[in-house]
Amino acid sequence: MSHFQTVKRVPGDPILGLMDAYRADRNPAKLDLGVGVYKDAQGLTPIPRAVKLAEQRLLQSETSKSYIGGHGDPLFGRLLSELVLGANNPLLTERAGATQTPGGTGALRLCADFIAQCLPGRGIWLSDPTWPIHESIFAAAGLRVGHYPYVGADNALNVEAMIAALTHVPKGDVVLLHACCHNPTGFDLAPRDWKRVLEVVKARELLPLIDFAYQGFGDGLEQDAFAVRLFAAELPELLITSSCSKNFGLYRERTGALIVCAEHAEKLQDVRSQLAFIARNLWSTPPAHGAAVVASILHDDELKALWIDELNSMRERIASLRNGLVEALQPHGLSERFTHIAQQRGMFSYTGLSPTQVQRLRDEFSVYMVGSGRANVAGLDAQRMDQLASAIARVCG
Ligand code: LMR
Repeated sequence: MSHFQTVKRVPGDPILGLMDAYRADRNPAKLDLGVGVYKDAQGLTPIPRAVKLAEQRLLQSETSKSYIGGHGDPLFGRLLSELVLGANNPLLTERAGATQTPGGTGALRLCADFIAQCLPGRGIWLSDPTWPIHESIFAAAGLRVGHYPYVGADNALNVEAMIAALTHVPKGDVVLLHACCHNPTGFDLAPRDWKRVLEVVKARELLPLIDFAYQGFGDGLEQDAFAVRLFAAELPELLITSSCSKNFGLYRERTGALIVCAEHAEKLQDVRSQLAFIARNLWSTPPAHGAAVVASILHDDELKALWIDELNSMRERIASLRNGLVEALQPHGLSERFTHIAQQRGMFSYTGLSPTQVQRLRDEFSVYMVGSGRANVAGLDAQRMDQLASAIARVCG
């Protein structure tokens, strides 16, 4: 008898699967615009110098590899919370607390299980479209998953439709919002839109879960925190998932946190006791290295300044690549059609290319992007912009 007889194969991950396909492609002119990792002018995903320096120091100073606690490294939790909520935010004294998680994805999974186990009956509402893994994480936790419109078939942000849909979300449900650099579209809400969303959240008594995976990649570290800080100031309760994968370049170190804001200190401790319990059943205690690196950087003025400089350079490079692609499309008469690429924020662009066009780009030109038409702009090569523009023109022709 085979115990695995009934196990069926499932399709590969829509994003990570592209990495394997790209690696296997022998075309020297191949271009990887799939998974969301930053690439420099050499096409490499560098380790920021601030990270390297922090690691060197840690190598000398680290004295133990014993477990860190269920909530992770307290210094990391405090400094990351300051980065997210603002250094002098009064919530930090007793109403907000961070639980360290394996990346932002771990924070989302912890959140999903917390909602399922501690807030029974609550559904979660995701933007349409959203990061595909949002869909599977919340479904895996057994939550009822609903959607609110965000970007329509015309590939434009539709705030009116979003607000109208949120107005009908059942009272008390959880609504997931992308703080900045919306994944997959790159279309972000303006401050005035956020204020309107906040009003609906208040009126419907919704619990916001703000996914903050790209702090510093949109308009800047402080600017990108606008929505998080607005909601934290105006609401008694809030869930925030923060990732250090992109802004610290710590992808494989799996470094992130779930930050909870509660109505008062006692309630925060109740929630945190549940989070530690759930985390224990998921991964026991979080991995230490990435968080130690982040804490070392944020704790040291010199390293922090260096890191902010490097982060600013990454953001500026992405912005110039966005403009570069739109310019390169001009001779093909396509700059108007793709002008949104220069206006979107963060790593990603919902290009507006159809699944068929994406498939042709891959089959005929070895250009890899997600089937939805999402391109990782941070993977563009400034030297080969004309080549890419010609390929796009061919599949759009
Ligand atoms: C992405 O969307 O490409 C990144 O967030 C990486 C991932 O884990 O999917």
